[in-house]
Amino acid sequence: MTTPTDPSFPRTSFPVLTPDEAAALITHGQTIGFSGFTAAGAAKVTPKALAARARAEHAAGRPFKVAVVTGASTGDSLDGELARADAISWRTPYQSNKSLRESINAGKTRFFDMHLSHLAQQVRCGFLGQFDWAVVEACGVTPDGQIALTTSVGASPTFLRCAKKVIIELNHFHSPRLLGFHDIYEPLDPPRRQPIPILRPSDRIGQPVVKIDPAKIAGVVESNLPDEVSGFDPADAVTNRIGQNVAEFLANEITSGRVPREFLPLQSGVGNIANAVLGALGANPDIPTFEMYSEVIQDSVIDLISAGKIRFATGTSLTVGKEKLTAFYDNLEFFRPRILLRPQEITNNPEVIRRLGIITVNTAIEVDLFGNVNSTHVMGCSLMNGIGGSGDFTRNAYISIFTCPSSAKGGKISTIVPLVSHADHSEHSVQIVVTEQGVADLRGKDPNERAKLIIDHCAHPDYRDSLHHYFEMAKGGHTPQTLSTVFRMHERYMQKGDMRGIDWST
Ligand code: COA
Repeated sequence: MTTPTDPSFPRTSFPVLTPDEAAALITHGQTIGFSGFTAAGAAKVTPKALAARARAEHAAGRPFKVAVVTGASTGDSLDGELARADAISWRTPYQSNKSLRESINAGKTRFFDMHLSHLAQQVRCGFLGQFDWAVVEACGVTPDGQIALTTSVGASPTFLRCAKKVIIELNHFHSPRLLGFHDIYEPLDPPRRQPIPILRPSDRIGQPVVKIDPAKIAGVVESNLPDEVSGFDPADAVTNRIGQNVAEFLANEITSGRVPREFLPLQSGVGNIANAVLGALGANPDIPTFEMYSEVIQDSVIDLISAGKIRFATGTSLTVGKEKLTAFYDNLEFFRPRILLRPQEITNNPEVIRRLGIITVNTAIEVDLFGNVNSTHVMGCSLMNGIGGSGDFTRNAYISIFTCPSSAKGGKISTIVPLVSHADHSEHSVQIVVTEQGVADLRGKDPNERAKLIIDHCAHPDYRDSLHHYFEMAKGGHTPQTLSTVFRMHERYMQKGDMRGIDWST
């Protein structure tokens, strides 16, 4: 068997195809599982060539659309190119690309959302139909069908095993020495499922490579491209304050004995707020060194591992900018015992999350007075990105935290509303709400108490009186609401472009 140290490991005995030749193998109406969880490890050159093919087919008057399934969001060469070419018939799960979002909201691409931990089993059990192709980025492939993935695992092991045919994108930008950073484990499906034997975040339970029948590999497309990971906005006063509020809340939980002194593993969403939260946890002397059992390992995690504040991080993607990735490759042996990439079915698995006692921190678009959270839709209708892993982690957390700024769009939108215009996480799963204004601890609180806490601690001062006014007028038993006015803030924004200045009396 070829070993990782064999210089031939990244080479291939399979047909080497140009991206156009690979795209020509795919036909209208087929279903494709692409690698990629965020832009990390996403297929790049084949989808771009496929988009060009779709444009040519459309110009010739022929239909050309494919179904696109990925780990989560991807890079612009995949979701962006294919969406702009109007080449995606349906798409799942999470996405975050502007062009694709427009195509979905215009009704051109059918999108259905799902919890990321559910995807692989639904593929294996045929819920999404047959998969014709897996197009997966790798840093190595052996003649006997061992595939070493790159910066993400996502759902690639399942796509590779279930698809009828496979195209490997062998990306030479990624070091073949990434081999060993992956822990590939696919559980059996019910009724043969066994417990997933992870007792600590650093436990290895699988193999470093995905093994498939080499006869399925139609060819290898070579590339040399970095992941299309976009950078973060610099932290500002609001995101910094949110981060500090989370850090101070957690430090107090340790002091009060509700969180063990040695702390618990942390999950953190991805984005500017998540970056600021991690930065604040790193800077807070009352937070001990910790481990991460998360979905995405982003720039701030690399910094905190380097600084010794994070002992170990496991996720399904290493989503870092080009500079950080180069620094990571330069210090690969330092990071080898400290980072592990797993399938999203394992990182986001409710069984493991509940067992390890993960503290989860995710971001909301809006939160209502009772703690219901909308993570996915603007004004009830327009999809932003998708639920991602936020439900997997929130529902099973030791402590579930949601963060958001108290207002959006220059203060014209209050993120605290009487009732969410779309519900992703119910009041039963949401324990702590944090904005730059403060922290609402909803544990052990009834709907009346929750509403007052959320308004007083989290709402922007411009909206506090208005929200109090709504709630004082709200009628009803256990959870007071006034159904005729409950969406008045949203309606006002859609009519006047500003949620301020509502008259609740009419
Ligand atoms: N109404 C309208 N727009 C809103 C809004 C609201 N209540 N709240 C936020 N927005 C807009 C912002 O203005 C911004 O728009 P812009 O890009 O045009 O400026 C955009 O939403 C993103 O908001 P931002 O404050 O920059 O936060 P973010 O980049 O961290 O994204 C989510 C927030 C909720 C969209 C994002 O975290 C997400 O997709 N979450 C769901 C999946 C998830 O939690 N994954 C992690 C699990 S591991």
